[in-house]
Amino acid sequence: MTVHFIGAGPGAADLITVRGRDLLARCPVCLYAGSIVPRELLAHCPAHARLVDTAPLSLDEIEVEYVAAFAAGQDVARLHSGDLSIYSALAEQLRRLERRAIPYTLTPGVPAFAAAAAALGTELTVPELAQSVVLTRVSGRASAMPPRETLAAFGATGATLAIHLAIHALPGIVEALVPLYGGDCPVAVVGRASWPDERIVRGRLDDIVSQLTDAPIERTALVLVGPALAARDFRESALYDPDYRRRFRGGP
Ligand SMILES: C[S@@+](CC[C@H](N)C(=O)[O-])C[C@H]1O[C@@H](n2cnc3c(N)ncnc32)[C@H](O)[C@@H]1O
Repeated sequence: MTVHFIGAGPGAADLITVRGRDLLARCPVCLYAGSIVPRELLAHCPAHARLVDTAPLSLDEIEVEYVAAFAAGQDVARLHSGDLSIYSALAEQLRRLERRAIPYTLTPGVPAFAAAAAALGTELTVPELAQSVVLTRVSGRASAMPPRETLAAFGATGATLAIHLAIHALPGIVEALVPLYGGDCPVAVVGRASWPDERIVRGRLDDIVSQLTDAPIERTALVLVGPALAARDFRESALYDPDYRRRFRGGP
């Protein structure tokens, strides 16, 4: 018996990986985060699979499900939104499984920040302008941010910021970032990227709050900030330069 943790992707049911879909199809038990994982994915589960929405469950109750499946010798598919490696409460589940010597595997998924970039039709890194993407969040109910992981510290680099779990904190984000990026820095808020009701609001640090006043985006949104979002006048990457001799083009 194995617990298979699977990144469900950002929302669109066809953005799960082939491996994730195949695992879903052969596990007799599926635990899924019902608040954010698309229900269509459950259609891949076997007809009589036990489907458990973990949204109302505590970690102890989720552990009870794992233990029961282990005792019954039944594999579990555990679906989390986006990718497993960020903000998925994975580490605490793995720790409990390890204590009980229950085996597990991890299958990555398309993260929300990648789906948001696709929705915007943009690359988040642009030559000589922004070559780093900071995946971050603001303090919330789940846990506080470590004291040195501030927007001011990340913003000081000028990198592209992908701020999660933060739409409620937009005015504070703007206040922290205007001194670092300038009021004219491009911002995009992408709500429910890849879902049928996806919504994109583009603006600048100095007008994004007012743009959302009349029709707010209230949850499941990413706030992307940085010059890369509107870059037009940038140097092309050397990667495809004819003078750039590389290994795959007969270079040294
Ligand atoms: C608990 S975190 C999960 C992140 C996920 N593990 C990932 O890889 O993207 C939930 C937050 O991710 C962001 N998010 C998740 N899905 C999203 C989507 N489809 N569109 C925009 N933001 C999304 C939002 O900031 C949301 O509050």
